[in-house]
Amino acid sequence: MTMTETRQVKELLSRDQIARRVQELGAQIAADYQGKELVLVGVLKGSFLFLADLARAIPGTDVLVDFLGLASYGDATRSSGVVQITADLTKPIEGKHVLVVEDIVDTGLTMEYLLDNLKTRHPASVKLCSLLHKPSRSVKQIPIDYLGFTIPDLFVIGYGLDYAQRYRNLPYIGVLE
Ligand code: IMP
Repeated sequence: MTMTETRQVKELLSRDQIARRVQELGAQIAADYQGKELVLVGVLKGSFLFLADLARAIPGTDVLVDFLGLASYGDATRSSGVVQITADLTKPIEGKHVLVVEDIVDTGLTMEYLLDNLKTRHPASVKLCSLLHKPSRSVKQIPIDYLGFTIPDLFVIGYGLDYAQRYRNLPYIGVLE
């Protein structure tokens, strides 16, 4: 595919479906972390839209936001499990309640690496919120504390997720035809 070619996108999860589920997740997270300070850690770039919506669905003032960047070596549609932190958190998380916000858990290799890395920094707790999960491709069983949707083994794009850096701006989640 060339970068100028336009392919058809079939909708898998609509804007409304996503918005409703994000509100539910936000309410559940707010209830679980009531009275505690919470650090949302967005994994760039794929989680940028999800985190923006999720943060606004968690009422209250005790919510901090930070990001980290990960590069996972592999081809455009498959991760190899070799992960590099390309941009680190701006603040220490020692003693903090951390909720990692991820776009999708596929093989689980990326999250296994990241969660292990964050635990070495002695946070009070680390949990995972992922918008999507493709259980059929799991290599590592990663407990997802807050999950948006379970999806079949399809390569999805939109709402932050890319194919070769494109389609992140689609307001819904779709599959390339
Ligand atoms: P894992 O290490 O296989 O779990 O892969 C996780 C990362 O691969 C995600 O954070 C995404 O960046 C990317 N990824 C996996 N599946 C898809 C997909 O269907 N669409 C877009 N990116 C994906």
